[in-house]
Amino acid sequence: MIRLMTWVLVLSVALVAVPVFAAEGDGDAAAGKQLFDTKCGICHNADSKEKKIGPGLQGIKDGKLPSGKDATYENVLQNLNEGGGGMPAFEKLITAEEKDNVIAYVMTL
Ligand code: HEC
Repeated sequence: MIRLMTWVLVLSVALVAVPVFAAEGDGDAAAGKQLFDTKCGICHNADSKEKKIGPGLQGIKDGKLPSGKDATYENVLQNLNEGGGGMPAFEKLITAEEKDNVIAYVMTL
């Protein structure tokens, strides 16, 4: 009986923990690339720093955004949600999962 209860406990902890750890920064970069190609690529080069409508995003993996801000999950998320300076606000245009995915992809550029 005690054993069974221990397993139930372990299992429920695992079930609660997974979504918590999945909350941030674990997006699927491959899915993010597809989204990028349809929604961001019109304005951003992924393979160079050359400006299109927005700045080229190549080099983000080295730690800095084109603005000079640190390339953190939080900064890219804020940029996505708020847009500005010619970039649309994506806050309500894409889902939270899509944001995680596209951020994961942008971090590889
Ligand atoms: C209509 C054009 C347009 C689209 C579409 C667009 N952006 Fe942008 N983006 C811009 C412009 C313009 C800037 C520069 C804003 C500035 O300098 O203030 C920018 C800036 C950025 C930056 C740099 C922020 C920084 O701090 O340097 C990132 C990262 C970025 N966009 C990601 C994305 C992603 C990801 C998408 C797709 C979900 C996207 N953008 C879609 C125009 C666009």
